[in-house]
Formats: sequence, C-alpha cells, structure tokens
Amino acid sequence: MVLIRPFNDSDNQKMLEIERLCPQGDENCAMGVDKKDVIARYGMYDNWNVLVAEEDGKIAGWIGLTIKTDPEKKEKYVYITEVMVDPAFQRTGIATRLIKEAEKKAQEMEAAYAYCYIYEPNKASRYLFEKMGYSEVRGIRFPGISTYKKLDVPSEYSIKPADIKIIDDAVAFINEYNSGFIHFTQFTNQTFESHLKLIPGYGQENFWVVRDKDNKIVACAGLWDSSELFNLCYAREPAAVKVMKSVFGALSHITRVPKFPAEGENFKVLYVVDYAFDKKQPDAMLALLKYLNNLSIDRGQDFLMAMTDPEDDLLTVIKKLKPQTETWNIFAKSFEGTLPTFSPFYVDIRDMVP
Ligand SMILES: CC(C)(COP(=O)(O)OP(=O)(O)OC[C@H]1O[C@@H](n2cnc3c(N)ncnc32)[C@H](O)[C@@H]1OP(=O)(O)O)[C@@H](O)C(=O)NCCC(=O)NCCS
Repeated sequence: MVLIRPFNDSDNQKMLEIERLCPQGDENCAMGVDKKDVIARYGMYDNWNVLVAEEDGKIAGWIGLTIKTDPEKKEKYVYITEVMVDPAFQRTGIATRLIKEAEKKAQEMEAAYAYCYIYEPNKASRYLFEKMGYSEVRGIRFPGISTYKKLDVPSEYSIKPADIKIIDDAVAFINEYNSGFIHFTQFTNQTFESHLKLIPGYGQENFWVVRDKDNKIVACAGLWDSSELFNLCYAREPAAVKVMKSVFGALSHITRVPKFPAEGENFKVLYVVDYAFDKKQPDAMLALLKYLNNLSIDRGQDFLMAMTDPEDDLLTVIKKLKPQTETWNIFAKSFEGTLPTFSPFYVDIRDMVP
C-alpha cells in the first residue's frame, strides 16, 4: 500500500542514497547525480513542496515542485523539479501516483500549467510524462567547452569583475537581452543582487562585464559553480565520448588535450549564466567566453557550460569554441486553456539542478 506524505528532514539521507541509484538516461547514456543534501536546491525558491511515497514504511520515491508567477500576466505555473523512484519499486505506478498528487497541489494553488526538463536520452521519463499527458515543447541546448588550453583574449575589450554600481548598469543590459523570452522576469537592481546572493556557488564576485573602446557595456556573464549543490557524472558514458577519449588519450603524450572524465567520475563544471551581449558585437561575448575559459583552467575546472534556447544568439558565438552540445527537453501540460508558446525560452538557472 503506497502512502504519499510531505517530506521531513529525516528523509534526506535515504533520498540521497536512492538518487545515487537512479541515473537519468538509458543503457547507452545516463547522467549520474550526486548531492550532499537533496533539499538544498529548494532554498533558491520562494516556495516548494516535496511529496514522498512510502511503501511498507520504506521510502519508494518522491516528487518536488515549486510555483512561479508571471508578474505581467499574473499567471501562475508549476515547475516539477524532480521525480525519482527507487529501482526496487520502479514500474509499479509510483511515479504516476506522485505526478497525480503534484498536479493536484498545483491546481489547488491555481497553476495554469506545469513543466519539467527531461534529459534527451532519458526515455523512461519521456514515456512517463507523455503517458501523463505532457508534450515536448522545447529542446534546451547545453553546449559544453572543455577548458584545457588557454585562449588569447583580444585586447580591444576591457573585461572586469563587476562592482555594485556596474552591476546596476548590467541589469538593464540583461533585461534588454532577455525581453520577449518566455519565463523571463525583468530584474530590478535589488532582485538581481539577491539572485546573485541566493544561488550557492554564485555571488557578485563571479560576475564580469565587458566594455568596448567607447566604455560601453557590450557583454556580461556570471560563473556559477554548481558543485555546491550537485555533481554530475556519466553513469553510462556515450559511445562517442569513449571513442574521443581513446583518440585524445593517444594524443595526450604529445599535446594538451580535452579532458574526458571516466565513467562515474564527477565533471568539474562552471556554468555561464546571466549572459547578455550586444548582437552587433558578438566578438565581445566571444572574448568573454575565452576569458572565462582561462579562468576555468586557473580554477582547476574541466568544463564551461551554458544552458540556452536553441534560437539564442549565444549558440552561434559559443560554436566557435567547438563545444559538445547536449539537449534537455521541456515537457509541459496545461490544466486550463492552451499552453503558452515556449519560444524563445528563458532558462531559470535554479531549475538546472537535475
Ligand atoms: C522515470 C521514473 C521516475 C519512472 O518511475 P516509475 O515509478 O517506475 O514509473 P511508473 O511505474 O509510474 O510508470 C508509468 C509509465 O511510465 C513509462 N515508463 C516508466 N519507466 C519506464 C521505462 N524504464 N521504460 C519505458 N517506459 C517507462 C511507462 O509508460 C509506464 O507505464 P507501464 O508501466 O504501464 O508501461 C524512474 O524510472 C526513475 O526514477 N528513473 C531515474 C530518475 C529519473 O530519470 N527521474 C526523472 C527525471 S527527474
């Protein structure tokens, strides 16, 4: 008999153990997730709910959700943060029960729709959400650059860490870049400062602004060290990565080569977040990415990664640095009326905790 109840602090340890048994993907490619605290991520949201499924007194799985509000349309919607079922209890309908309970909560809170992210190779999750009436609405790109070789940063740009006054200027720049992106809420100086503080592993000291020769802001971006909240590894490494690893392994004796972590080995990733740039000066963004590449090497990290809508101009810029690109698909379901158009889509970095 399955009981669904609210999370309590004493569940944390068991949930961490279950999560380590639950790679997201299929037999050919799966992402493993390792956290120190299952609930830490929820501290970044104004509200959250985690529902735990228990069978005969044992935790069998859980689902998490948070409700957000579009300040212009005043529309509420729900982000399903995660759904996880212990392999010992999978395929017995537990995730189905959890999703139904989460949707009941969402509707009680007057959410118009719910959305979640699913890693492209995660067929089980795709089939589950499709069966529950969700449809794929957008494919978010994750270009990742292996940071193994220092790059020349062109001298025509000045790249500086931002102080409070500069951040105020950058806020207007970020707002303009993202205006028209669904789920983007314009920042005020205060909300941007609290956003920088609220995200573990981020903060004002990790935000840079690029100016051109006329002292005009032409690009900006932050770096988020997400290892404060989670670590990722390939629990099952894709064949293409294995091939590249053996090719570069041979080359590594004669030159510097990209790092390919072993199966089960955590990636050391810095995320490029809150970026914006003058579309007429894409080279300014490229200069900033090269600068951040060098910083990633200085900090002993292996990858720089971004999360972006497929139509975001950042993709064109970052392609010049030859990234490996993965896709996480957004699935959504409406509770009333039709779903909004998820294009172009603003990625809320808090949602990027898998
Ligand atoms: C995805 C997951 C949550 C499914 O949980 P579950 O309790 O086994 O799912 P259910 O028993 O409710 O399955 C409902 C339907 O989903 C689909 N489904 C679930 N697992 C599947 C699988 N491994 N392969 C194919 N379809 C699957 C099926 O259509 C299934 O219906 P059926 O059993 O009648 O065929 C579970 O496999 C899991 O925890 N995976 C690892 C973590 C993860 O990927 N979470 C999602 C991202 S946060």
